[in-house]
Amino acid sequence: MEPSNSQSSPPAKYVALSDGLYDYIARHRSRVVDPLLAELRAETESLGDAARMLISPEQGDFLTLLTKLLEVRSAIEVGTFTGYSSICLARGLADGGRLHCFDVNAEWTAIAQRYWEKEGVASRIELQLGDAKQALLNWMPPEPLDLAFIDADKPGYETYFEILLPKMKPNGLFIFDNMVWGGRVIEQPLTDPDGLAIDRLNQKLAHDPRVESVLLPIADGLHLARKR
Ligand SMILES: C[S@@+](CC[C@H](N)C(=O)[O-])C[C@H]1O[C@@H](n2cnc3c(N)ncnc32)[C@H](O)[C@@H]1O
Repeated sequence: MEPSNSQSSPPAKYVALSDGLYDYIARHRSRVVDPLLAELRAETESLGDAARMLISPEQGDFLTLLTKLLEVRSAIEVGTFTGYSSICLARGLADGGRLHCFDVNAEWTAIAQRYWEKEGVASRIELQLGDAKQALLNWMPPEPLDLAFIDADKPGYETYFEILLPKMKPNGLFIFDNMVWGGRVIEQPLTDPDGLAIDRLNQKLAHDPRVESVLLPIADGLHLARKR
């Protein structure tokens, strides 16, 4: 079915996904076979409902690709969970690069630490436990950040953006996950506090002169914002 559009605007260019088309997309990547991440995903799924917080496999590959392309030496992740996205980021780091991970949950990040060892990236990653809004206030990266992946509490995203922007290099990249909020971000009226926080940040990033941003419909939506 063709997407609908008004007669005055140019044709909307997007493809609505079906399960079959998503499956096709997911199968056409270099890393379809990834035993370590498959094992981590299976172990995380045994936790039950929390596993829905995992990023998707193609999102993970996209993070690795971006990290490599940007030759990232200094990266931060807010929201590490069981380590899936941190492994994807750490895989892409330049030689000597560091990933600084922040999460509030010791049980989930213990799983992450185990998989960092298995993947051989543990020496490139530092973990700080606790509420990232508090921890980040007193934290300075050893070198200015090239990349920040934000995937924690949604009402905190704007705070993370404001705290981290001065710690970011010019051209540094923010990547915010869940920015279409399962499609609910366009609900009228939007009342869910998480959805409201996401909508507010999408609007802010689109108009903030300090960054250049684009919202991409990958998985649950990635908003990319480059520091000018
Ligand atoms: C969506 S999950 C992250 C998923 C992860 N990026 C992945 O790929 O598997 C969100 C994580 O944010 C953490 N979190 C929630 N609120 C937080 C806070 N205030 N400070 C630090 N971490 C927080 C949770 O403990 C959880 O592990």
